[in-house]
Order: sequence, then C-alpha cells, then structure tokens
Amino acid sequence: MVLQPVRGTRDLLDQELANHKHIIKTAESIAATYGYKPIETPIFEYTSVFQRTLGDTSDIVGKEMYTFSDRGGDSVTLRPEGTAPVVRAMMTQGLTQILPQKRIYSGPMFRYERPQKGRYRQFHQLGVEYLGASNPFADVECIALADHILKFLGIHSCTLYVNTLGDLESRSVYRQALVDYFAPYRDDLSEDSKIRLDRNPLRILDSKNPDDQKICQGAPQFDDYMNATSRDFFVTVCDGLAAVGIEFTRDPHLVRGLDYYCHTAFEFKTTALGAQDAILAGGRYDGLMEQMGGPAMPGIGWALGIDRLALLLPQQEDKPPFKVAVIPVGDDDYTHSLVLAQNLRHNSVTVEIIFSGANIGKRLKQADKNGCTVAILLGADEVASNTVKVRDLRGATAPEMKERTVDRRDLTQFLKAEQLS
Ligand code: HAM
Repeated sequence: MVLQPVRGTRDLLDQELANHKHIIKTAESIAATYGYKPIETPIFEYTSVFQRTLGDTSDIVGKEMYTFSDRGGDSVTLRPEGTAPVVRAMMTQGLTQILPQKRIYSGPMFRYERPQKGRYRQFHQLGVEYLGASNPFADVECIALADHILKFLGIHSCTLYVNTLGDLESRSVYRQALVDYFAPYRDDLSEDSKIRLDRNPLRILDSKNPDDQKICQGAPQFDDYMNATSRDFFVTVCDGLAAVGIEFTRDPHLVRGLDYYCHTAFEFKTTALGAQDAILAGGRYDGLMEQMGGPAMPGIGWALGIDRLALLLPQQEDKPPFKVAVIPVGDDDYTHSLVLAQNLRHNSVTVEIIFSGANIGKRLKQADKNGCTVAILLGADEVASNTVKVRDLRGATAPEMKERTVDRRDLTQFLKAEQLS
C-alpha cells in the first residue's frame, strides 16, 4: 500500500505554493508600511495557552485541538490559531512595556475539522496583532490594512461584515437577557446550544443549526443592551471606516467562534468558495493578556486563511523562466559540463545539466521537456577551443540562432542578452 498524507493535510507545490508565497510576501511588505514587524512563535505550546483563552465552549477547544502528552508528561497542543501564542510571546519576551507592539506572522495552524474544499486540518494563516492600543481608530487602521492587502492581491469579490460585542458590562447584561429568552426553548435547542446556554449563550446566535436559527430570530438584540461607552466606540469605528472609504455591512449576529473578543468583530466573506466563506477574520481582545496572567493590555488583530485566499487569486500568466540546459556530448565531458554549469549559476543563470539520454538527440529532447530555453553542447572540440555550441530550443524563432558557436568568455553576456530577447 502506498503511504498517504494524513486526512486534511496536503503537499503544497507549483502554482498553489507560488500563490501562498505571493500572498505572504505581499502582505508582509504592505504591513511593513503600517509599522508591523515579523514574529515567529513555536508550532506547539502548552495546552493552557489555548485552553481557557479561546473559550471552553468554543468548537476549537471542545472538539478541534491536537492535544497530546509529550514524553515528559506535559500537555501540549499544536497551535490552532496565532493570537494567544503572540500574546504569550509578548509576555515571555518582556515586550509589554515597549508599546505599541505591531506584529505579523504566518505559518501552519491545526484544527481537527471535517475536511472539504477550503477547510483543512493543517491550514495556513497570516495574521497581525496590534497590542497596546485601546483607541477605536486602531481598529479602523487594522481593518484598513486587511482591506489594503486584499485589494492589492486583486480580491474584490468579498464583503466586509462588522459587528460589536461591546464591553464586559454590556455583554453581561445582554448575556442575562439571552439566558432569560432561550431558557424556555432549552428542549428545542441543539445539544451544542444547550451547553452554550449554560456557558456562553452569545454563541447560540452563531449556531448553524436551522432549528436554533429559527429560535434566534426572536432573540433580544444587543443594541438594546449596549452601554454608552460601547455604543460610542462602535460609532467611531464605523465612522472611521466610512472616512477611509471602506464599505462594510453590519451583521448583528457576527459573534466569532473564539471567546476572547470584545467591541469590534469583523469578517471578510466571499461567495466564491461555497460553505468556507470567511477569508479573513478578527477583532478586539482587550482582556486576553490579563486572562493569561499578564498586565491589562488592549489588543486588536486578524488572520487571513492563506489556503482560501490562494484559491481566489487571479490566474497569473507567468512567462516561463529562462533556463539553460548544459549537455555533455560524450562521457568524457561530464566534468567540464559540471564546471561550466557551476560557473554560469554563480553568474545567476538557471542551469539544468542533462545527464540522461543515450545520444544528443535524446538529451536535447530531455532539455526541451525540462522547460529549457537554450541548450549548450559541450564536447571535446569545444573544450579544446574554449568555446561552446548554443542551440535555441524555442521552436522556429530566431533561425539564425539555431546553433551558434560562442566563446566561453562571452557566454554569460550572450545568455543574458538571449534572456531579454
Ligand atoms: P479564525 O476566524 O478562527 O480567527 O480564523 C481566521 C481565518 O483562518 C478564517 O477566516 C479562515 O480563512 C482561516 N481558517 C480557519 N480555519 C480553517 C481551516 N480549517 N482550513 C482553512 N482555513 C481556515 C483566528 O484564528 C483569530 N486568531 C484571528 C485573530 C487574530 N483575531 C485577532 N487576531
């Protein structure tokens, strides 16, 4: 039996990998203009970094974490997201006094979800975290960065949904109103929502279960329970977004699947990917660092799903790279070919040495199959006269170039001119 990758994981190569790298490079260079500096955290952390911080009732903690005991008996978890690790790192690195901290990261995340198009068990996120800024304009700037990156990448087919979860005071009053409303429906709620009713009733509003959704239609609205501070904060964010020309839709049911959020929550969604419609999501998490044992520290951030975004990238029509084949004519010419190839590579020419093929004809075919643009033939005569034969592999173009003898000393310059032609 041929060994298979683990369900929900996959190898990345060719165009898909190129898209991933393009997204990361673009996002990093745009984020740098907003003052974001890179950070890399480990791929696994102590389980406690995620356990309570993401929320005991969140799907991630309840069902999706890859958690195991290591050989020393410590419980560790493959990171399901990047916010809690970055907040942990700020404390570990003693950076909580040097504020604000704007950090950007990317890498694989792990969630035990049911795999489908755009949803994997090992997926890739690029995220930003802005710590130490409590001002609502920081939320606007953070969302503007997301919008900037998506537009620059040519993603126009998405909608920004924004909501507020208010401050702690507003949320606890609202929470009680929800408990009072949902309690008489307890028996009709899904099993998940029954648990949420006891632990985090806000998340019932996020349920995908159709019966739950029907009951939710009559649920109390958060806007009726928000205090003045929360309302002012949200109005400032909305006005700020309008001022920088970012269109958005208010979605009062957007509550997010992680418990650490307060005030602003947002998602960029597309209709192009079926059920996996969120391509970038985030929000404010002012209580997170304190909950992790650190100082009170406001924070806002987001993460984009690189895998999902890669599926949406406009098709790039890349010119095939200029590649040179070095073909040894006889068995004695391998060493000379190797030396020549190394010399060209040190001059930034891409070279493939063709070792296989019984005769020149077969080797030339092999060079063509490898996507080489020109072939350099190196035999005893060429070695003796310090020349090479250069043959054009680009079909009928430039017939005068079909085969040319070129002095070895002029070869790099000759090839660079060919590359431009
Ligand atoms: P999240 O909404 O859980 O937020 O994930 C952010 C994005 O990661 C999603 O919108 C989606 O594009 C992508 N994603 C999530 N799960 C999968 C999966 N199984 N397969 C493929 N893509 C996936 C967070 O993770 C927060 N840490 C974001 C944040 C940063 N909030 C504040 N700062």
